[in-house]
This record gives sequence, C-alpha cells and structure tokens, in this order.
Amino acid sequence: MKKLKIASIPGDGIGKEVVPAAIDVLKAVSEIHGGLSFEFMDFPYSCEYYLEHGSMMPEDGLKRLKDFDSIFLGAVGNAKLVPDHISLWGLLIKLRREFEQQINIRPAKLLNGVRSPLVNPKDFDLIVVRENSEGEYSEVGGRIFREEDEIAIQNNIFSRKGTERAMHYAFDLAAKRNKHVTSATKSNGIVHSMPFWDEVFKDVAKNYPEIETDSQHIDALSAFFVTHPDKFDVIVASNLFGDILTDLGAAIMGSIGIAPAGNINCNGKYPSMFEPVHGSAPDIYGKGIANPIGQIWTAKMMLDHHGENEIGNVLLDVVECTTADGIMTPDIGGKHSTEEVTEEIIKRLKEKA
Ligand code: NAD
Ligand code: IPM
Ligand code: MN
Repeated sequence: MKKLKIASIPGDGIGKEVVPAAIDVLKAVSEIHGGLSFEFMDFPYSCEYYLEHGSMMPEDGLKRLKDFDSIFLGAVGNAKLVPDHISLWGLLIKLRREFEQQINIRPAKLLNGVRSPLVNPKDFDLIVVRENSEGEYSEVGGRIFREEDEIAIQNNIFSRKGTERAMHYAFDLAAKRNKHVTSATKSNGIVHSMPFWDEVFKDVAKNYPEIETDSQHIDALSAFFVTHPDKFDVIVASNLFGDILTDLGAAIMGSIGIAPAGNINCNGKYPSMFEPVHGSAPDIYGKGIANPIGQIWTAKMMLDHHGENEIGNVLLDVVECTTADGIMTPDIGGKHSTEEVTEEIIKRLKEKA
C-alpha cells in the first residue's frame, strides 16, 4: 500500500471550509483506490495563529513540514486581523521560497455544465507555467519616507537560472501536450527585464525544435485569453504576469472558485505545495457557499504529482458529472452549499468502487 504523508494547512477564511471538504474527498479516493492511503496532519498556521503566537508559524515550522510528501494549503490572508504583507511573507511566500517551489502550474479549461462568461467560447484547455520565486516579487525594494517626497521602490529580479528553469518546464510540459509554448512578455523595451526574458526564451526554444512558439505582449495576451482562449496550449509567464493571467484564466472557466494550482519543487529536495488560485474570500467566509472545486481539482493535481494520474482523472470526471447535473455552488450558477457539492462528489466517487 502506497502511503502519502500530507501536511494540511487550511489557513484563513474559506480555506478552513474547502480544505476539510477536499480532504474528505481524498479519503474517498483512497477507499476506492485500494492501493493508496493518506496520512494527514493538520497545521493551524494562519492569521489567528499569528494573533496568538506573534508569527504565522513557529520558528521550527519549516522543519516540521519539510519531510511531508506534499503540503495541501487553502488560502492565507485576513487583513482584518493581520496586514496582508505580514501574513503572506510570513507563510505563503515563505513556504514557496524556502521549499524552492520555483514553478507554479495553473491549468484552465471548461468543465461540463459550468458556463463561461464568454458568449460563445470554443473549447479550451491551457496551462500557465508561472515563474514562482523571483521577478516582480523580489524582496529588493522598500520605502523612503521624506514627507511629501516619499517614494516606494520595487526592483524586479530575473536570474538566467530562474528564467531558464521556468521556460524548460514549460517546453517539457508542451512536449507532452499540444507542442506549443507562448511567452508572456512586454518586450517593447519599457520594462528592462523583458528583452532579457525574450532572449532566454529564444535560447531555450532552440533545444525544442518540435515545439512551436510565439511571444505575446501581456496586455494583448490578456485580451486573447478572452477572445481566443482555444488558441493556447502552454503559456510561460513571470511571477506577476502569471498571477494576473491565471485569475483571468479562472474567470473564463466560470469562476475563480474552481481554478487549481500547484507550487512545484523541481529539485526533489522539499515538498511541493498544492493550493488553489483563489484566496481566503472574506466576503463569503462562513456562509457555507464557497466552491470546493478549486481545492478538489488542486487535490487531483497533487495526485498527478505523485504519479496517481489514473485516479486523478477519475476524480475530475466525477467533478464534471456533478457540475453537468447542476449540483454546484452559487458562484457558478448553482444553489448548493459547499457541503452538498462535496457530499455529492464523494457519493459519486464511491459509486465508482
Ligand atoms: P479572493 O480570491 O479571496 O476573492 C476574490 C473573489 O472571488 C471574491 O468575491 C470571493 O468571494 C470569490 N471567490 C474566491 N474563491 C471562491 C470560491 N472558492 N468560491 C466562490 N467564490 C470564491 O481574492 P481577494 O479578495 O483579492 O483576497 C482575499 C484575501 O486572500 C487577501 O488577504 C489576499 O491576500 C488573500 N489571497 C491569498 C491567496 C493564497 O493564499 N493563495 C490567493 C489570493 C488571495
Ligand atoms: C496567488 C496569490 C498570491 C500571489 C498572493 C496572495 C501573494 O494572489 O497565489 O495567486 O500573488 O502569488
Ligand atoms: Mn493571485
């Protein structure tokens, strides 16, 4: 029996609703699989934890998490309790950086029964490979307080190593898919880092003669996500461009509540971390209407990551049968609660046994 040790961090807001839901689904997955089991350990790291302990996780938090097979995270952020820059640097970004999760993969495709806000969407199935450790999210910068001349500075850092890594990941992924990589750029010389990004893209592309490539300015690319999402296969993007593009990807799927993601540690030294694209959604927290599909689809990505693609595909099929029958939360036009959708998915999964 294969056993996966999973550290679960529900975090804040609806993370506390959708993570337990997705864990119940994973327990059902292990029941029907027969050869796969999970050992979950819960970690309460969150803004509430901060209020009690003065930090988002204990000093040895990384050590406690390091030996798990994966981390399953909900969302971080409750600005009413803790300013976002403290909670995010103290937990979410810290885990991504310290565990060298340098790639963030974020697929977007239409699910049966879920209506896209696009008027007449052609079927699309794309995946954004987001550089996850540097770029616009660098730690270099700060504020200079000088009365009315106060300034804020943010330096973008693009290393050749980090940029190449993201691009190789995108090309390797495209080789297994539809053999097309689009680079999200802004190469018209305004942003200094982007001509460099383009140069690295061209260099890396030379190693993959079988893969078609194109480059789109991020502004035009965002428009194409709305007008022609079906034209994309793999898109490689910097940290901030990828962040924005993937909320747009979520929107054209029908809701940010269904978009999954994985923060991948590529060198095998640390656990990868699976967390949906959405945040803690304070506006709906506690109402029981958070869409659990983003977290459940994220669980499927975690299964794929551990070589369990077959059962992962069964899980996504079951999710789609459920949405196709209209059993969904209000964000995608349904009337059901988080719990009802989760129970239905579990029931249908068990019918597969
Ligand atoms: P958000 O993703 O939390 O919410 C944006 C909108 O989408 C809201 O209207 C929300 O109700 C809706 N939504 C999100 N998830 C949903 C779901 N599962 N079902 C139904 N509707 C859903 O983004 P925000 O409002 O910009 O951020 C709120 C907090 O979350 C902030 O503190 C932010 O920093 C944090 N955040 C954390 C992460 C993360 O931990 N990965 C990601 C994004 C935002
Ligand atoms: C995401 C989030 C985070 C990011 C924030 C909360 C720091 O928006 O995971 O998409 O920008 O990476
Ligand atoms: Mn985001």
